[in-house]
Amino acid sequence: MIELKPRVFSGMQPTGSLTLGNYLGAMINWVAMQTTHDCIYCIVDLHAITVAQDPAELKAAIRRAAAAYMACGIDTQKSIVFNQSQVAEHAELAWVFNCVARLGWLDRMTQFKEKAGKDKERASVGLYAYPNLMAADILVYRATHVPVGEDQKQHLELARDIAQKFNNDFKEGIAARGYKDGVFFPLCEPMIQGPATRVMSLRDGTKKMSKSDPSDLSRINLTDDADTIAKKIQKAKTDPEPLPSEAAGLAGRPEADNLTGIYAALTGTTQDAVLKQFGGGQFSGFKKALAEVAVEKLSPITSEMNRLGRDPAEIDRMLAAGAARARAIAQPIMAEVKDLLGFVR
Ligand code: TYM
Repeated sequence: MIELKPRVFSGMQPTGSLTLGNYLGAMINWVAMQTTHDCIYCIVDLHAITVAQDPAELKAAIRRAAAAYMACGIDTQKSIVFNQSQVAEHAELAWVFNCVARLGWLDRMTQFKEKAGKDKERASVGLYAYPNLMAADILVYRATHVPVGEDQKQHLELARDIAQKFNNDFKEGIAARGYKDGVFFPLCEPMIQGPATRVMSLRDGTKKMSKSDPSDLSRINLTDDADTIAKKIQKAKTDPEPLPSEAAGLAGRPEADNLTGIYAALTGTTQDAVLKQFGGGQFSGFKKALAEVAVEKLSPITSEMNRLGRDPAEIDRMLAAGAARARAIAQPIMAEVKDLLGFVR
């Protein structure tokens, strides 16, 4: 009987710079999981081109993301790190999944609706099929655990639906190959945990902090220097009331909720403890303290990213080596997929 082993996969898009949202929502968890699991961390450049990208800037952003992964604590000897386009099996399995997933499933994806906006006729087909590629990313390694922020939950549910339908559509072949319980593709488990699974914009506490927000003041980038971080926090939207002393007082106050949540995440405490400390005080004092902890946590990462960024050839070598390791896992799985489908090879 063939039984699947636990394996972690996750990815980030190389657009702009990674943000505090990426860091608190996913990266901290990625780093932690390296001690308990075999991990594959991808830079998803194929996903990035679902919207227009400038080629020179995309190349720089891929290297920047690689430097950020390492600077945050991803160990490229232990974990596999590479950019997605170097492993052709991602795109190959995504095509198969385009034929497994149903239009109705993709029609329900809220992120497509948000990203395509009102003019969905002009959105790329890739943006629509994006979650199928995401499922392929995970399943081409038969990964079982996927650490992500809250916003990826629906996509991971789709990945589970795709895995289940594939297992069912090809169950005779899968059984003949001896897979335990007919599981060829695992139903991957989203790991939505960590200090802040949904970090909100500094300009609007009801909107997610995002690389694609037109206002740079809405986010803290891992490339921001200390002055920029302090300025962005100082300019962050707040409300006129003093901070509450307990969590119940955060209801209807999304900005206060977000900023105190960020403080708690950065310092490794709870929001309750933060409110106990700062409750009753004005935002101005709290913001100073928040800027200090943000700079203290992020500036070592930024300087390490800058250091690594000075040697792009070394980053490219690391990515190529990671891609070779990734391919060695993906190729035999893809070969089995082809056999199950009935392709001649
Ligand atoms: P991306 O590049 O938008 O974000 C990368 C990771 O960061 C998390 N994240 C956040 N968490 C909390 N608060 C925020 N404001 C915030 N912004 C981003 C995301 O949840 C994510 O975990 N489609 C994915 C990339 C991807 C992927 C995959 C992920 C492609 N294939 C396979 C997992 C498995 C994306 O665009 O993430």
